[in-house]
Amino acid sequence: MQQKTLTKRTLTSSSCSHINTAFTGFGKVFKALILLSVATISCTAYTQTKTLSETQAQGKVLAFERAKGNCLACHVMEEGELPGNAGPPLVMMKVRFPEKSVLKQQIWDATIRNPKTIMPPFGRHGILTEKEIDAVVDYVYSL
Ligand code: HEC
Repeated sequence: MQQKTLTKRTLTSSSCSHINTAFTGFGKVFKALILLSVATISCTAYTQTKTLSETQAQGKVLAFERAKGNCLACHVMEEGELPGNAGPPLVMMKVRFPEKSVLKQQIWDATIRNPKTIMPPFGRHGILTEKEIDAVVDYVYSL
């Protein structure tokens, strides 16, 4: 009985509502478990696969590379290892930057918005070329 309740709760919390059917009886609990594992595999694959364009993929390399953007030194970014937290996590960028040009300006020269920022002015100081910054902007905008 306890097992049945557990199965039902797990299924309900799954985002794949099409397999969220009510099961009754012990035979069906077994069937539900099989369905659940299949659903878990497909849901995981769905949520974790993010397709980046070629430019976005280049931007990701530049953003993560220590000798280039090194954004992870200060920002939490999806899939980035050992991030610092001097700056805000780079998430939901489209919501926070409805204007992509404002995001580019922030990366080009963060001192425009905050003269005392510790974020390096990547464009103004020539740390990254304009082409590289455009790729980074494309990538960061997908986060
Ligand atoms: C030395 C630390 C440091 C590095 C390296 C750094 N940043 Fe920042 N960043 C900050 C700080 C601190 C802020 C907070 C705003 C401020 O200081 O004005 C910030 C703010 C931002 C913001 C604005 C976020 C918001 O929600 O307002 C973006 C976007 C951003 N950084 C992107 C980047 C990208 C992309 C890179 C790599 C190319 C990078 N940063 C590298 C420290 C850093």
